[in-house]
Amino acid sequence: MRGHDVAAMIVGYPEDTLMDTSRRRLLKGAGLLAGGLPFHTALSATSTQPAVSGASFEFENWERLRDEFDLDYSWRNFAGFLFASHPRVVEQDIQRHRHGFNRNPANYLVEGWGYGDETRQKAGDYFGVTAGQIALTDSTTMGLATLYNGISIKPGQEVLTTEHEHYSVQTSLRYRAQREGFKVNTIRFYEEPRDVSTDEVLKRIKQHVNKKTRVLALTWVHSGSSVKLDIPAIGALVAELNAGRGDDDRILFCVDGVHGFGVENLNFDEMACDFFVAGTHKWMFGPRGTGIICSRRTDLAFIDPTIPPFNLAEDPAFGPMMTPGGFHTFEHRWALRKAFEFHLNLGKDNVQSRIHFLNTYLKNRLQEIGGVELVTPMSTEFSSGFTFFRVAKHSAEDVQRVMQARKIIVSPADRDAGPVVRMSPGILNSTEEIDEAVAVLREIA
Ligand SMILES: Cc1ncc(COP(=O)(O)O)c(C=O)c1O
Repeated sequence: MRGHDVAAMIVGYPEDTLMDTSRRRLLKGAGLLAGGLPFHTALSATSTQPAVSGASFEFENWERLRDEFDLDYSWRNFAGFLFASHPRVVEQDIQRHRHGFNRNPANYLVEGWGYGDETRQKAGDYFGVTAGQIALTDSTTMGLATLYNGISIKPGQEVLTTEHEHYSVQTSLRYRAQREGFKVNTIRFYEEPRDVSTDEVLKRIKQHVNKKTRVLALTWVHSGSSVKLDIPAIGALVAELNAGRGDDDRILFCVDGVHGFGVENLNFDEMACDFFVAGTHKWMFGPRGTGIICSRRTDLAFIDPTIPPFNLAEDPAFGPMMTPGGFHTFEHRWALRKAFEFHLNLGKDNVQSRIHFLNTYLKNRLQEIGGVELVTPMSTEFSSGFTFFRVAKHSAEDVQRVMQARKIIVSPADRDAGPVVRMSPGILNSTEEIDEAVAVLREIA
């Protein structure tokens, strides 16, 4: 079914009107219509006016930033990596779209369609790529599943991955491998997170890559162990290993980047990977139910879509083709652009240094407590926004219960690094909050 057939079917509009609208949106996105006016300005001629005015945001300092969120600060929230509260600018954009949909769902769907393109453009601005390289998804998991389901793996080829991956990577690969019978080689990069070294990681990749390896499936920041991999160094190695391999057998380097995206100050090109997946409802402070896939190439040379795209403009690029169609909570998807603006306004370098500073502060404080074992590497070369530890006298669940009773949110896990208590000081936390958490740990250790 062609894009305009889908459009006509989904909203029952005359085909011409729809194609016209979607083309105009694309042109507007490129600043070619309405004197380059932003889309919402052009919308003012229509009947769907938002009930709330557009909020703006200028960064002043970290303390003041907390006022931009509805977060309940009577709790010390060190689990922002799970699911985000979003800032006022994002919330107001959601409200605006929600109002439009509630007033007139069919019309607003058509009128607002271009916000999806604008969102991909903003994601591209954030990550240093074009909109055509960005697909929008509903979560990291949806991105990983559509990536590993659709990526080119021919009979006889194999996948190389690690024990440090999240369930969503492991399961996406397992489903496909069970169906097609290919081999998934699973290795470890380190026994103890503190022992990780880039030399060792590169050595193990070299040892286990073979002629059949088609996909290298890794995670940037491991949520079971807190380790951050040197993705640019791995990307450089993959480029070397690919020398002499043709398109049919080159290694496709795929990264689950969710816990680095919105923390680390890197652009996509610096990572030298083929595909990068992240949810944007964690560190990025986007609306819940949002995420992206970014591709090195703008075409579909190495991947096929799984979910039919509602690609009204019939744009053959990766982004529109890999963005799952069907109706979604478009008020969330379209408001994601505001989260990228928000981060760019904060400054990617500013965000990275604040998060590294808070985690280093916490690590130092934890090391002062006898009976607490720091699991996370001290160096920000191998760690990002996670600080994991163990308390000798207590299980990770017990530590969580004690902290919860004191209105401090931490998260236990027991995966590749064994049982750990996970904390993720982020830009909404302060050193005072960390001191409070450390004081409780000192009491129980
Ligand atoms: C490394 C990693 N990948 C994927 C996911 C799944 O993320 P989502 O909830 O956005 O699907 C998580 C969850 O936190 C994770 O830690």
